[in-house]
Amino acid sequence: MVNRVPNPDDLEPIEMASIDELRSMQLARLKWSIGHTYENVAPYRVKCDAAGVTPADLNSLEDLSKFPFTVKDDLRQAYPFGMFAVPQREVVRVHASSGTTGKPTVVGYTQNDIDTWATVVARSIRASGGGPDDKVHVAYGYGLFTGGLGAHYGAEKLGAMVIPMSGGQTPKQVQLIQDFEPDIIMVTPSYMLNIADEFERQGLDPAKCSLKVGIFGAEPWGDAMRKEIEERCGLDAVDIYGLSEVMGPGVANECIETKDGPTIWEDHFYPEIINPETGESVPDGEMGELVFTSLTKEALPVIRYRTRDLTRLLPGTARTMRRMDKITGRSDDMLIIRGVNVFPTQIEERVLAVSGLAPHYQIRVVRDGQLDVMTVQVEKSADAIDADSNVLVSELKKGIKDYVGVSATIEVCEPGGVARSEGKAVRVIDERK
Ligand code: DLL
Repeated sequence: MVNRVPNPDDLEPIEMASIDELRSMQLARLKWSIGHTYENVAPYRVKCDAAGVTPADLNSLEDLSKFPFTVKDDLRQAYPFGMFAVPQREVVRVHASSGTTGKPTVVGYTQNDIDTWATVVARSIRASGGGPDDKVHVAYGYGLFTGGLGAHYGAEKLGAMVIPMSGGQTPKQVQLIQDFEPDIIMVTPSYMLNIADEFERQGLDPAKCSLKVGIFGAEPWGDAMRKEIEERCGLDAVDIYGLSEVMGPGVANECIETKDGPTIWEDHFYPEIINPETGESVPDGEMGELVFTSLTKEALPVIRYRTRDLTRLLPGTARTMRRMDKITGRSDDMLIIRGVNVFPTQIEERVLAVSGLAPHYQIRVVRDGQLDVMTVQVEKSADAIDADSNVLVSELKKGIKDYVGVSATIEVCEPGGVARSEGKAVRVIDERK
């Protein structure tokens, strides 16, 4: 790992700039972004007018809190292009995130936006220990999802050699990793485990493959999962965060030398944390909902976009810019089981604490009369097929009761029994809805 810490001379100067320099750049950019949005995005201007604010009211970074939020539903109502701030001829790309219900959310990019995005992803790969000499295997899906193409353009901008594999075709993923010997893989953490299983199915040890770094994101994953993947695959695992409405992957990325939560690329994306119930801003260090304002985006600028992701802001360590804590979960994913708030990542931690269980899990919730019943489906790890299922059940049940505070029914399957994904894992099936 040590020899993969980036050389300070290779960083962009802003990554090491003083806080004062960063804040003054942010203020200048914020003034531009608010003006640009107000002038060119009618639905946002209507909100500002209703709230009685205009761009002239922004004289400091703190003034941002006077401005209205943007939410996913604003984008849905303006479907497909009603929030774009530039004429269509300036838009060179769209992406879309598939909503579970209704229409997708469509996002657009000018050529400058694509360049900015590639720059922050290149910066993210560099922070992860990558450079121009590396081969980067991209197993995020290509297409309307931002993962594949976002990773791809960033890796190319860094000067690395890109292997645009996309998601799926798991045996072929293994074949290409064996034959092309990539140094870096960019993929969801759950699909990485799926690929690791395939290595073993083929009689190969994933820890012996060429991969040195994994840049994992697009879904929540905890530190226990990091340890599991690092040990099993013999690589350094770092966290990449992003969302399509704000740009795509590369809004924030963990630095390999500290692995202490993603550094937010604050020169392009201004973060705030709010209390999700009241909408009030909360100070750095306190948990709440992450909100982003784009500072440089042209085609789809977003002011105070509510991500629904729950985390807190932390001071910079490896860089001047602030970090975010690993995401606990989305407020949308929080289950309320008999009055107790439960996040899938809490269940993940307990599953990983039981030796003999594989790191795959799915939660199913049903209503039995007035009662919520949560079933956690897990599977034996390949090296524990002879383990006593009853022991595994009682160990996990106790872990969930003691640490999460709810009673769960546990279902232990044979290896391969839990449904796999080739992109974002489906952790929860809530049949109460
Ligand atoms: O998932 C962009 C992306 C692609 C990020 C590849 C990282 C790697 P969306 O499909 O719009 O975009 O989903 C965004 O995914 O609001 C979070 O809830 C979740 N998410 C993304 N990265 C992380 C992460 C892409 N590192 C939504 N940890 C976000 C936890 C994440 N959750």
